[in-house]
Amino acid sequence: MALKYTPEVIEHFTHPQNVGELEHPDATATEGSPACGDMVTFTIKVNPDTHILEDIKFRSYGCASNIATASMATVLSKGKTIEEVKAFHPKVVAERLGGLPAIKMHCSVLAVNGLKAAIKQWEIAHGLATEEEIQLNEQTIRRLLKGVINPETGRSIVSMGMVNYIKIEGGKVYVEVSLQGTDPMYAANIREEVTEKLESMKCIQEMIVRILERDKFEMGADNGEKTASDKSKAMTEGGEA
Ligand code: FES
Repeated sequence: MALKYTPEVIEHFTHPQNVGELEHPDATATEGSPACGDMVTFTIKVNPDTHILEDIKFRSYGCASNIATASMATVLSKGKTIEEVKAFHPKVVAERLGGLPAIKMHCSVLAVNGLKAAIKQWEIAHGLATEEEIQLNEQTIRRLLKGVINPETGRSIVSMGMVNYIKIEGGKVYVEVSLQGTDPMYAANIREEVTEKLESMKCIQEMIVRILERDKFEMGADNGEKTASDKSKAMTEGGEA
């Protein structure tokens, strides 16, 4: 079935703004979506005195929705302070495009996460942020998992109440997600995305991600459980440690 796109999405897809790469950018970041394997790269220039994002370009290796949301994200962020841009929510960017089909919401998450990743790189380069500054606690993990989108509904697994349980012991994190009626074909995809989010926190040394079907059955050939003795192992084994 053909997806229905708004005129704004079609306009930004066919005539995207700020496409390409800046010469000598202050920061660059590439973000990938485990939901579809697509990627987006942002290059930015930030005024170090005012913290205003003075120039920005993007290159999308994604779909029409990703191109449109990345284009809109550059339009909305240019001329804003990095603090303002960091407050952007994918839903707001999608709304400015008149909305996206539910199964395409993850494309807007990819665009906004890519933009924020470039800002984070700029902050790190200017001593305004460190990789380790984020506290490892349940609130942080929950915030991180808000970026995991259920591919079937286009909504965050956190807002859908799919995250049953988060437990932290030292550098070890245990996360349990319930599919709650979501088609089991998405279990591996959700698990992969949860794992990638956890892997982005350098202070996590070990993780267990368990996916349950309707709070009852464990999913996947290895019972849906992912254990990584360390993140490099998880990375090199393609998230199937
Ligand atoms: Fe991959 Fe849209 S970014 S399907």
